[in-house]
Amino acid sequence: MTDTHAAPPHPQRLVVTGSGSGIGRATALLAARTGWSVAGLDLTGPERPCTRDGVRTVRCDVTDETSVEAAFAVADDLWEGMAPTAVVHCAGVYRFKPAVRTTAADWDAVLGINARGSLLVAAAAGRRMTAAPGPGSVVLLSSIGAVRGDAGEPSAAYSASKGAVVSLARQLAVEWGPDEVRCNAVLPGVIDTPMTTVTQDPDAFREVVRRIPVGRTGTAEEVARLCLFLASDAASFVNGTAVPVDGGQSAA
Ligand SMILES: NC(=O)c1ccc[n+]([C@@H]2O[C@H](COP(=O)([O-])OP(=O)(O)OC[C@H]3O[C@@H](n4cnc5c(N)ncnc54)[C@H](O)[C@@H]3O)[C@@H](O)[C@H]2O)c1
Repeated sequence: MTDTHAAPPHPQRLVVTGSGSGIGRATALLAARTGWSVAGLDLTGPERPCTRDGVRTVRCDVTDETSVEAAFAVADDLWEGMAPTAVVHCAGVYRFKPAVRTTAADWDAVLGINARGSLLVAAAAGRRMTAAPGPGSVVLLSSIGAVRGDAGEPSAAYSASKGAVVSLARQLAVEWGPDEVRCNAVLPGVIDTPMTTVTQDPDAFREVVRRIPVGRTGTAEEVARLCLFLASDAASFVNGTAVPVDGGQSAA
C-alpha cells in the first residue's frame, strides 16, 4: 500500500500529543513514515526522551504548564532551536456520566485535561511558531460531541470540553493568522481506539454503527490522515475550521 502523504521536500517538524495510543499514535507513526521529524508527547512516555519507531518520545502531562514546557524543550533540542512546523494535539480523556450525576470534581477533571490541556499545548506551540519565520499549523482534536448531543452515552463534561476546543481553535486562528500560523479543530465520530469502550458491547456497538451512514466505525489512521493534511502546507488556506471525520454521522 502506498501512503497518500508524500514526504515534504525538507524535513518538517511535528509535535504530536497523546502519541502513546489511538489517534495520536497513528498520527505520529504515519508522519514519521512520510518524512516528518516527529516528537511524541504522552503521559505514558518515558521520563528521559528516547526514540521509538522513528518518533522522539517523552513524558508530558498536558494539564501541567511546567511539564508541557519541559516536553516542548525536548522538541527544541531535537530541532536545534527551530520551532515546530506543526502540532497535532490528541491527548484527551473520555468520561461517560449523565449530567445529573456529574460532580464539580468530574467537570474539572475532564475540562482540565481536554480544555486546559488544549490551551497549554497550543500556547506552547504558538509562542514558538508565531516568533519563527514561515508558516505553522496547530490541529486540536475535538469530537462530534461538540456539535451533537448523545442520548445513548450522555457525557456532559466531555461534550462541553470538546465544544471549548472548537472555540479555542477559532480564536487562535484569528489571533495567529497574521503570523501565518493556522489553527483548526478535527471532530472524529466513533473511532476504534482504546478510548472507545462501546466496541466491547456487541448490542451497543450494533446500535452505534446503525447511526453511521457508511455503516462502520473509523480507524485511527483515517483520522491521522486528516490531521496530517491540516498540519501540512497542502491545507495552507484552511484556517479556523471544525472538520468532522465521522463517516457522515454528524450529517445524519
Ligand atoms: N476514539 C474516538 O472515538 C474519539 C472520538 C472523538 C474524539 N476523540 C478524541 O481524539 C483524541 C484521541 O483519542 P484516542 O481515541 O486516540 O484516545 P486514546 O485513549 O487511545 O489515547 C489518548 C492518549 O492521551 C494520553 N493522555 C491522557 N491524558 C493525558 C495527559 N494529561 N497528558 C498527556 N497525555 C495524556 C493517553 O495516555 C493516551 O495515550 C482525544 O482528544 C479524544 O477525545 C476520539
